Amino acid sequence: MILPIRSYGDPVLKKMAEDIEPGHPGLKQLIADMFETMYEANGVGLAAPQIGQSIRLFIVDASPFAEDEDGKPTEDAHLKDFKKVFINAYIVEEEGEAWPFEEGCLSIPSIREEVYREPKIVIQYQDENFKEYEEEFDGFAARVIQHEHDHLDGVLFVDHLTPMRRRLLKGKLRDISRGKTDVKYKMRFTPVK
Ligand code: NI
Repeated sequence: MILPIRSYGDPVLKKMAEDIEPGHPGLKQLIADMFETMYEANGVGLAAPQIGQSIRLFIVDASPFAEDEDGKPTEDAHLKDFKKVFINAYIVEEEGEAWPFEEGCLSIPSIREEVYREPKIVIQYQDENFKEYEEEFDGFAARVIQHEHDHLDGVLFVDHLTPMRRRLLKGKLRDISRGKTDVKYKMRFTPVK
């Protein structure tokens, strides 16, 4: 089932998400619905707060970047297996010289801005079977994880911008929160005051 994606301005996006336990009610269906919702919106990542649930869960799938239109491996061929579920995830290390990348977010349609993040991370998490991992990621994979992990802590990519840049975007962000945006997927808007 496709779930409406919460817009910028929704208080759930500013909340610190809670850990979940094995046997969390409806978890399997929720994960399936989140994948369906993410694919429908052409996203590479989606965090549970974005569909209104303040729990430490996010999903990623960057595997489409591993192949070109003809099915040939691209320079991002290593992303082929980068389809994952992260539960109770915590980034425990970030290192290297921060690099810029133009990020977007399904909760903030039509805005893309350069965000600086460190290139290498170590993350502790559990998969959909609550098996525990501590893994290292770098490059684009690390970038996607950092963005989604931020959602669990109530942080959006626009929060990383300079105060000046944010000020320039204020009107646009207000419009998005009011649904004044051209979006092709299902959203639920909460106007900011
Ligand atoms: Ni996002």
